Amino acid sequence: MRILVLGGGGREHAIVTSLVASEHAPEVFCSPGNGGTAALATNVSITDADPAYIAEWVEVNKIDLVVIGPEAPLVVGTADMLAFDGVPVFGPKAAGAHIEGSKAFAKDLMERHAIPTGGYRVIYSEDEAAAYLSEAGAPIVVKADGLAAGKGVTVATSTEEALNAARAALDGYFGPAGETVVIEEFLEGPECSLLAFTDGETVLPMLAAQDHKRAFDGDEGPNTGGMGVYAPVPVVDKAQMAQMVAILEKTVAALHSENIPYSGVLYGGFILTADGPKVLEYNARFGDPETQVLLPLLKTDLLDVVLATAQGRLHEIELEWREDVAVSVVLASDGYPGSYTTGKVITGIEEASKIDGVTVYHAGTQLRPDGTLVTSGGRVLNVTAIAPTFAEARERAYRAVECVSFEGMQYRTDIGLRALMAAGEG
Ligand SMILES: Nc1ncnc2c1ncn2[C@@H]1O[C@H](COP(=O)(O)OP(=O)(O)O)[C@@H](O)[C@H]1O
Ligand SMILES: [Mg+2]
Repeated sequence: MRILVLGGGGREHAIVTSLVASEHAPEVFCSPGNGGTAALATNVSITDADPAYIAEWVEVNKIDLVVIGPEAPLVVGTADMLAFDGVPVFGPKAAGAHIEGSKAFAKDLMERHAIPTGGYRVIYSEDEAAAYLSEAGAPIVVKADGLAAGKGVTVATSTEEALNAARAALDGYFGPAGETVVIEEFLEGPECSLLAFTDGETVLPMLAAQDHKRAFDGDEGPNTGGMGVYAPVPVVDKAQMAQMVAILEKTVAALHSENIPYSGVLYGGFILTADGPKVLEYNARFGDPETQVLLPLLKTDLLDVVLATAQGRLHEIELEWREDVAVSVVLASDGYPGSYTTGKVITGIEEASKIDGVTVYHAGTQLRPDGTLVTSGGRVLNVTAIAPTFAEARERAYRAVECVSFEGMQYRTDIGLRALMAAGEG
């Protein structure tokens, strides 16, 4: 079987790692891939902005299955184009990916189907924003409607700050993504993600995961794409888990009832409020870095799951998980999430990978023709460790981090610390 994976981050290295470990021994291509996928798959360079070009490449290269990692190709209808050609594809069509591509669409869907989420208003002008803000007060959250690479959300502590954020978005700061703005009730409580495989009928939840969004220890500093993650999440009790699963099931049923096909991963971003879990947002694909802790804990053959999802027979699959926990630490370039320089030589990955339970996933890395591995992005590596306890997983992950070096390497030292406390290991 020949598989094409679209994307080139830590998420895709984790997906490729699990696929090549399949007992079906597939041949994997990754576009654009990175220095990590280069060792397991054939990196190719197909522009992911053009579904027609991808579909043609897939036909010429006799690809049997396409796995779409990032949101951008989903939103522009890559899955639609491939499905039209009869190619099995993992990832929703554009209509389903709209649940991530438009926060207003997602909120309206939740409202129509009584899915727990914060109160909100969709606004199109500064006047509407001002009127709603004077009624709603602060703290309050302002979100650009469309894809903004994780930069479109302002959690405002005053109505003035909120109005400024709404004005900036409406004035075109995020391009077309901000032409519509969602103003949303501020929700309080711990955050967690729950991802599920779904073929539009069956919903198979994964383990809950918790990302660390802020750049520095103690949740200080600017928001990032994610500086580390762990799974499962000890603060999530059985009742909350059941409520989140029910919400994801209800979401898939809601889409189905509106004739929107959905298959792939449905990612629910939740806040565990005093009134139960509420949805912050949906993503239409695997999370990055959540995937880098979820897939190493998955015992079931990923290729079986992905293919069953793509072919609408997910009811045949039962997910099995290891008893272990996983912690993943992101190693980032100096300056990230602001500007940073690339091309720094990376050493020590081999030594780090020798530590029991450790896998080093590449995110922003590139293998030079002379064989040198260099940095090529803000988030460079994800050092994942699995172990029976959070204390041990953290110890392994940070021991592995010590082995790795590149100029300007920065990381948080408190990834998984909260889990360790909550699990009663502290
Ligand atoms: N209603 C809300 N209440 C409190 N915090 C929120 C709310 N919505 C978003 N946030 C915070 O902002 C972050 C980003 O928002 P999210 O909706 O996930 O957008 P995106 O991931 O597309 O940037 C969340 O992870 C959360 O920390
Ligand atoms: Mg988010």
